[in-house]
Amino acid sequence: MASARRVNVGIVGVGGMGHVHAENLARYIPSTNLVAIADVNLDRTKTMASRLAVTEVYSDYKELLRNPAVEAVVVAVPTFWKQELIISALEAGKHVFTEKPLALSLGQADEIVRAAEKSGKTFQVGYMRRFDPSYMRAKEAIDAGEVGRILMVTARSRELLIGRKVKDLPFKLRGWFADPSLGGTSLLDVASHDYDVIRWLSGSEVSRVYAEAVNLVYDYEGAGEGENYDNAIVTMSLSNGAIGYAEMGIYNVYGYDTAAEVLGTEGSVVVQAGSKTSAQVLKEKSVSNEYQNFSDVRFAQAYRDELVDFADCVIRDREPRVTARDGRAAVAIALAAVTSAKESKAVTLTSG
Ligand SMILES: NC(=O)c1ccc[n+]([C@@H]2O[C@H](COP(=O)([O-])OP(=O)(O)OC[C@H]3O[C@@H](n4cnc5c(N)ncnc54)[C@H](O)[C@@H]3O)[C@@H](O)[C@H]2O)c1
Repeated sequence: MASARRVNVGIVGVGGMGHVHAENLARYIPSTNLVAIADVNLDRTKTMASRLAVTEVYSDYKELLRNPAVEAVVVAVPTFWKQELIISALEAGKHVFTEKPLALSLGQADEIVRAAEKSGKTFQVGYMRRFDPSYMRAKEAIDAGEVGRILMVTARSRELLIGRKVKDLPFKLRGWFADPSLGGTSLLDVASHDYDVIRWLSGSEVSRVYAEAVNLVYDYEGAGEGENYDNAIVTMSLSNGAIGYAEMGIYNVYGYDTAAEVLGTEGSVVVQAGSKTSAQVLKEKSVSNEYQNFSDVRFAQAYRDELVDFADCVIRDREPRVTARDGRAAVAIALAAVTSAKESKAVTLTSG
């Protein structure tokens, strides 16, 4: 039976991802109240707060952490801010849901894992594909033995990062995402979803990584020059003996396309890229249907369900489906992929 208790949540960061979480927490999730919002961009904070009737607004996240009404914090800031914010929130006695990726380095990830485990608070990482009905059905089939022994696991992310097709390439990319010291490159920020899917579906750890990565369409003058990638493949050796294969692209003009397949000795389970509707337009020389353009459409329900489950973990004091250690594992794979791409060699992971 659903609990009547509501968890009072404060959110830090209401940009692209944070605004989706804020709307869900305030409007669509019966077990949460959105009670406070913090963002260094105070105009953005105020606009969001007035839309969602939230009275507590701050430009400094520390004020949000000092608010005793806030039981749990949703972290949706760029990755370079996460360690400080997450550890401060845990030390302030708050439960934490953080956006992926967990951290920029293994040192940061380890400190977060330690703080999360020491705190005894609920701690969840936002790998929402684990809450999507199609990925969940794949996991159920694999765990029930329907595909037999796993041989190959593939997962992909293709998106149009800048939201539109442009006439003149290369396109100048700016902001934290374009600076590897702030965002960790697309091999961490975007492809970490795929590493997580591969670990989760296979129930296996990654032991070795080889990445081929190129930068063909973006121009990262300055900080990210020569260190960023817009298309990559990452092959992985899995501890169960199978092969993992992740594909990542961030200039995908036909839409937002994530997919996965697990091939086994008894068959295969496939998670297809989502089209907007099942209606197809059939013409003399073509068949078409419309693709979903953005992640907030494709994963609208999963973004809600991961926070519904987070609130339930807080209320029932149970372990979340995606833990700090899962977040750390994806960071380790990403960093190995970055090294592999730079040095053109396979990288062996040490267990952590
Ligand atoms: N799960 C997903 O599918 C998904 C999709 C998009 C982004 N993300 C993740 O969400 C995180 C945020 O990405 P985004 O696209 O929303 O970025 P964004 O740049 O659109 O928004 C970040 C927000 O954080 C604010 N901010 C920055 N530093 C802050 C600080 N110290 N205190 C308070 N606010 C601060 C900024 O003003 C901005 O409003 C990233 O880790 C990203 O990888 C996840």
